[in-house]
Amino acid sequence: MTRPQCCGIEQMFDDKTAQADLKTYLRKGPSKATRELIEQVAQGGVEGKRLLDIGGGVGIIQHELAGRGLARITHVDASTAYLKTAQEEAERRGHAGRADFRFGDLVELAPELEPADIVTLDRVICCYDDMPALVAASARLAKGLYAIVIPIDGRWVARGAAVANFFLKLFARTQYRMFIHSTQEIERILDEHGLRRSFYKRRGFWQVILYQRA
Ligand SMILES: C[S@@+](CC[C@H](N)C(=O)[O-])C[C@H]1O[C@@H](n2cnc3c(N)ncnc32)[C@H](O)[C@@H]1O
Repeated sequence: MTRPQCCGIEQMFDDKTAQADLKTYLRKGPSKATRELIEQVAQGGVEGKRLLDIGGGVGIIQHELAGRGLARITHVDASTAYLKTAQEEAERRGHAGRADFRFGDLVELAPELEPADIVTLDRVICCYDDMPALVAASARLAKGLYAIVIPIDGRWVARGAAVANFFLKLFARTQYRMFIHSTQEIERILDEHGLRRSFYKRRGFWQVILYQRA
C-alpha cells in the first residue's frame, strides 16, 4: 500500500478498535444504517451469489448474509487487524471456507479481483482520499448490485470533518483523515460505469444507497 491514508488506516483501525467493534456488534447487532443495507441487499436475493465486501471491517455484512446462501465472499481490507478479526469470526461461525480475505488497498488490488454480483462499501468511501479512483475501481467489479453507506454531504458536515481531522492530526498523531465526498460526484462516476440508483434511505448522519447495473 503506497498512499499515506492507508498507513493512517492501519494506525486508526488497529487491534484494539477491531476487538471493540466486534464486541459491540456481538452485543447489539449491526448499526441502523448497516442493518438497512443488509436488509435491502437480502431483499434482492443472495442465494448462490458472490459478494465483494470492500473495507468490510469486522465482517458484519458477510456474517449476516452468509447464512442466507451466498456462494462466495471476498473481503478486501486495508486494515490487518480488521481483516484478521473478520476471518476469526467467520471461522467461528463456520463460513470461512466460502470466504477469501485479501489485505490491501482496493484501488491497487482491483485488477487481480474477480467481479461479484454484489459489491458493498459500508462507511468506506469517507475513509479514502482518492474517491474517484476507489468508486471507479469498485464499480467495475459490480456485476449487479452496488450498495454503499456514506455520510451526508454539505458545508456544515465538511466543517465538522475538518475540525475532527485537525484534532486527529494534533492529538492522535495519525495520518488518517476523514473525507466528505460529494454524493452527486459519486453518483456521476457510478452512472458513467452503468450503475443507477435503486434505493435511498437516510439514517441520521448516514445515507444508505443502492445502485443496480442498468
Ligand atoms: C470506518 S471502517 C468501516 C468498517 C465496516 N464496513 C463497518 O461499517 O463496520 C472503514 C473500513 O474501510 C477500510 N478501507 C478504507 N479504504 C480502503 C481501501 N481503499 N481498500 C480497502 N479497504 C479500505 C478500512 O480498512 C476499514 O476497515
